[in-house]
Formats: sequence, C-alpha cells, structure tokens
Amino acid sequence: MPQTSSIPVNFDELAEHFFTKGWCRFPFDPQLATWVAEARPQACTTVNDPEFAVWLRYGGTWFAGVNALANDTDGRVDTNGSALIGMAIDFIARKLGLEVGRDFAWDRGQVSVCYPGYPQPMDGETDGAFRYRVKRDAAHLDGLHPVGAERRRHLNETHAFILGIPLTEADENASPLIVWDGSHEMIREAMLHCYEDVAPEHWVNLDVTDAYQTVRREIFKSCPRTIVQARPGECYLVHRLALHGVAPWGEDAKAEEDGRMIVYFRPELIAGEKQSSASWLHAP
Ligand SMILES: [Fe+2]
Repeated sequence: MPQTSSIPVNFDELAEHFFTKGWCRFPFDPQLATWVAEARPQACTTVNDPEFAVWLRYGGTWFAGVNALANDTDGRVDTNGSALIGMAIDFIARKLGLEVGRDFAWDRGQVSVCYPGYPQPMDGETDGAFRYRVKRDAAHLDGLHPVGAERRRHLNETHAFILGIPLTEADENASPLIVWDGSHEMIREAMLHCYEDVAPEHWVNLDVTDAYQTVRREIFKSCPRTIVQARPGECYLVHRLALHGVAPWGEDAKAEEDGRMIVYFRPELIAGEKQSSASWLHAP
C-alpha cells in the first residue's frame, strides 16, 4: 500500500495538465485515504444490498451504483466520520474557483464497480450499443442523457466536475476510466455553436444530438485515448466537458476481490448570478 506521499504537489502544473488534457491525477493524500477507509465498507454494503441490485448490469459485470453511496453534503459517510477534504478539494477551490457549499454541494456518490468479464451483453441493449461499449469504451459526455427510442440528447444536468476516488487496488487493465485528451475544448466549441443564439434557460429544450455525435467522431479521430488510473488514497479530476468512458476488462487484469471499485462524485453547479448552464459551458 502507498504511504504518505512525499511528492510535492504543484497546483500550477496540475492545473496546466487539467485545463489542457481535461483531467489530472492527484498523488496519495492521507486525508483522502482516511475518507476512503470509511467509504469502502459502506460501498461494499451497498453493492450487496438487494435495494441496489437494480444497478447490477451487463451480466453482473458492472454495478453502476448511481447515487448509491449514503454520504451527506459534506461528503461524510459516517456521522462522526471525515468530510471530503484534502488536496483535490483544495485544487477545485483554488484552480476551478468552485467552493463546496457555495458553488456545489456533494451529491451522493456513484459506486461504480467492474468485475472480470465486463462488459457482457445485456437485455435491452442493441448490438450497436454493445459494440460501442466494447470498441469505444461507451464514451459519453455526462449531462446529455439519451432520451427515448431515438436517443435524442438535451442538456439535462450541469455538473461542476467529475471526481474519481478509487476504493480498491486495480491495475490499469481492470476496466479503467478512459478520457480523450483535449476533448473538453472540442465539446465546448461544438456546444457554443449550438447555443450561441439561445438564452441559457432554453438550452434544455434544444436537441443537440447531431452536433454531439459529430464532435464525438472528430474526437475519436484527433484526441489521444488515455487510461486514467489511480490507487486508493489517490484520485483524479475530470473536466465536466471531457469525453470519457470505461474500458472493457482486460485479459490479464488484476484487481482486489471486491472488483475495481471507484466512487465518482458529479455534483451539479449551484446557479448563482449566472445560469448554471451558462457556467457549465463557459467556465474554464
Ligand atoms: Fe460519465
């Protein structure tokens, strides 16, 4: 297990990486490690809770666990436990200008667990969608949900960022997160074009499916597909506009028995003076 990090953390360098690539990784942080130690048993309970069995998908190879972690708005999983604090949260405040309580509140974390064999075919998923999951890591942009049989997309959720916190040891072949480097600025460009003549309060009504699919194809052609992986006590931050997905479980992948378990936080922006959708599109 990694111990206290001696890696000096240079927020300027991390910020440069984050705003260029659309993600950055934080070294081992004892404060986060404390939180992880409290969160893991809770996450394991959730995975085995029949109430959450609905989240077990793809032939039992992925527990999607959306909002399955019972944390409060400070991120605490135990009443007397630790809030979500540490390097990554400081970085979010200092470099993204986002303060917890003012600009976002911690939503309930997603407990995302992949198991050997991910993904297996699932009832209700078309062959095309399954192929996309296998070949393209089910790449997507959070917040644009496909709705109806036509899978048309509108801006439904304006997330502030995605924070990924591994709870188990898993190597980089064990269904890691994938991010397309630099994709956030291509998506911003495409969405700026869609929304330029529309007031932010009406963005939710605008069907952006075609623009989204076009830019996604461009991203696959021009942006490097990057594995983003970390160990417990480390974490990573992904830009809210970055295209990302989950890789299939590799043949030689190694992970703990509980699987490749990651908690993702995707808090929504709190609308301030500006509409949250405007911040979603325009903020750095
Ligand atoms: Fe996502």
